[in-house]
Amino acid sequence: RLAAEEALGRLVRDVPDFPQPGIVFKDITPLLADPEGFRAVVAALAEAGRDADGRPVVDKVVGMEARGFIFAAPVALALGVGFVPVRKAGKLPGETHAVSYALEYGEAVLEVHGDGLVPGERVLVIDDVLATGGTARATVELVGACGATVTGMAFLMELSFLPGRATVGDVPLTVLTVV
Ligand code: PRP
Ligand code: MG
Repeated sequence: RLAAEEALGRLVRDVPDFPQPGIVFKDITPLLADPEGFRAVVAALAEAGRDADGRPVVDKVVGMEARGFIFAAPVALALGVGFVPVRKAGKLPGETHAVSYALEYGEAVLEVHGDGLVPGERVLVIDDVLATGGTARATVELVGACGATVTGMAFLMELSFLPGRATVGDVPLTVLTVV
């Protein structure tokens, strides 16, 4: 956990005025290029899916396209459970559940395969950033639509000046660093 915090402090780059003026973008590409840092962050995220004895307590890991995929897939392998993608509209070939969520301007749609999760499964949701919480909240709804339950969510970064925590509600949250 300490190694993960150190890696995030050292290897996430602030890019001012991207993608729009006034926004400071958190660029994770230096972290991804550093195998020790990347490994430490994945290990720290995976802790959110283990009990005090280190045993996995989830049945699936869900990650959101695109940056969530980068972290959720290795977390699933670390826990020894399956990975299920939540994708932007129109990308999944099978029957899906869909939820629309608010963007800064307008809205977008996220989808999950209807048979991607089995009713009753416990799910750990992984993404890079918790900002407004719109993406995370839509994902909780999609997991619920499959009859499964989000028992934890873990993020590299929480933007504390945005209401993400309140938006997602009472799901147990792990954040490796608060911005
Ligand atoms: C970014 C980020 C989170 C989301 C957080 O995704 O990766 O998924 O925004 O914002 P929110 O809490 O306000 O919903 P985005 O869809 O912008 O880009 P990506 O496809 O690169 O993940
Ligand atoms: Mg994203």
